[in-house]
Amino acid sequence: MSVEEQYVDSLYEADSELERVKEGIASNGMPSISVADGYGRLLTMLVRLAKANKLLEIGALGGYSGICLARGLNEGGSLVSLELLPAYAEVAKKHMVEAGLGDKVDYLIGDAKESLAKLKEEGRKFDFFFIDADKEGYPVYLEYAIELAEPGAIIVGDNILLRGRTTDEAKQGPAVKAVRSFNEKIATDERLESTILPGYDGLAIARVKG
Ligand code: SAH
Ligand code: DHB
Ligand code: MG
Repeated sequence: MSVEEQYVDSLYEADSELERVKEGIASNGMPSISVADGYGRLLTMLVRLAKANKLLEIGALGGYSGICLARGLNEGGSLVSLELLPAYAEVAKKHMVEAGLGDKVDYLIGDAKESLAKLKEEGRKFDFFFIDADKEGYPVYLEYAIELAEPGAIIVGDNILLRGRTTDEAKQGPAVKAVRSFNEKIATDERLESTILPGYDGLAIARVKG
């Protein structure tokens, strides 16, 4: 983390609920790749500012971002979270329940592409998306998000810098290429207005026009 990122993080008191979630993730042998604390706070703010009430998360891990998202919901709002691994969804659900948010979330287990196809088939619509699963899938996830979006929906994508790989010309692997293409689409797709924050590991924020 940069000294500037450390500085702004140091201004905030530790969030004991989210700290417990990170400990639970580590003690279950899961990777420590939850969204950055500063972007978690931003997710809560964005959901609240957008008055979003139908959230879709792609990539649950241990529920850290799920808690941040659901914290911004008004009464009656809900979160659908797509997760490949049943064991991870179990841990995420447990953490959501402990945070008092268990009744707000539904996990769809399996490859997100299949879950997204199903949601589209069912005619489901969402007003907030958080894309944070396998990086190779990002372009497909973005296209699905736009198709499942209500007018004015917010689409957020995590890790768009891939810890330096996105901007390293020598890196030409499938995940890097996919994230570059995702970023270009975020910036240029006529259906979106957007900005991209380069702090931490980079965060893309778009609004579906209309
Ligand atoms: N959003 C979480 C972090 C997600 S890490 C947070 O910030 O708290 C990425 C997650 O995506 C992992 O849990 C991984 O199992 C999941 N994942 C990877 N490939 C996937 C796929 N094809 N479909 C659904 N989930 C996937
Ligand atoms: C990494 C971080 C993430 O937030 C993520 O979703 C996937 C991978 C990482 O640092 O490797
Ligand atoms: Mg991430």
